[in-house]
Amino acid sequence: MRISKRLKAITGFISDNSKIIDIGCDHALLDIYIYQNFKNVSVIASDIHEGAIKIAKNNIKRYNLEDKINLRYGDGLSVVNKNEIDTIIISGMGYNNIKKILSDTDKLESVEKIIVQSNTDIVKLRKMVISLGYKIEREVMVKEKEIIYTIIEFTKGKEKYTYEQMYFGPRILENKDDLFYEYYNKKLLKYENLLLQLPQSGIYAKIHHSRLIKMIKKQLEYQNINK
Ligand SMILES: C[S@@+](CC[C@H](N)C(=O)[O-])C[C@H]1O[C@@H](n2cnc3c(N)ncnc32)[C@H](O)[C@@H]1O
Repeated sequence: MRISKRLKAITGFISDNSKIIDIGCDHALLDIYIYQNFKNVSVIASDIHEGAIKIAKNNIKRYNLEDKINLRYGDGLSVVNKNEIDTIIISGMGYNNIKKILSDTDKLESVEKIIVQSNTDIVKLRKMVISLGYKIEREVMVKEKEIIYTIIEFTKGKEKYTYEQMYFGPRILENKDDLFYEYYNKKLLKYENLLLQLPQSGIYAKIHHSRLIKMIKKQLEYQNINK
């Protein structure tokens, strides 16, 4: 079966033999793909909306995987028991929702890996998941329908990060690709325009944006020198 480029990129962080929950599975196509392409995985697909569960159920039935993919209806991690999972996937949601889901820390005890694609506030997301006792193992940027997404794999452990690493992503900085330049060139333009529009009184916002602009320019220029 075929899945979108963004979902396929998420599967790049999946390992054989893992016990996965995909929270907010929607159509469950990702879960069907994972089941078909990885060895010895257990997959729980969950969603908070009845409509999504119905569609997921039909898709799972279409691929004859009713007794393989465990479909659960409910909110976040409330649908799993302690120690039932070692890998969490959350994708296509906003930061606040993801934060709420991961605040169920009892359920995180057995979780070695968290794979996240947030639609908003990626910097805050990095900080939040790190504060739960995880480090950034791998990161990738992927473009689909003109939108550039960042997918992050966190694994249990500790690592210290500078402000720049937290902002851009430590693993992304190690391997800046064309999407990095596309994304941050656009961001630079946006912040430069914003800075011009900020009122004189907004001194703190001006300082903040000037700092971001300087930091982004440094990353873009640094690579230009090395090209
Ligand atoms: C935009 S869809 C993303 C679907 C899929 N994960 C993807 O990346 O394409 C978000 C899904 O998350 C579900 N969702 C939102 N909050 C949730 C929660 N707290 N627990 C479980 N599912 C949730 C929604 O019902 C919806 O189906």
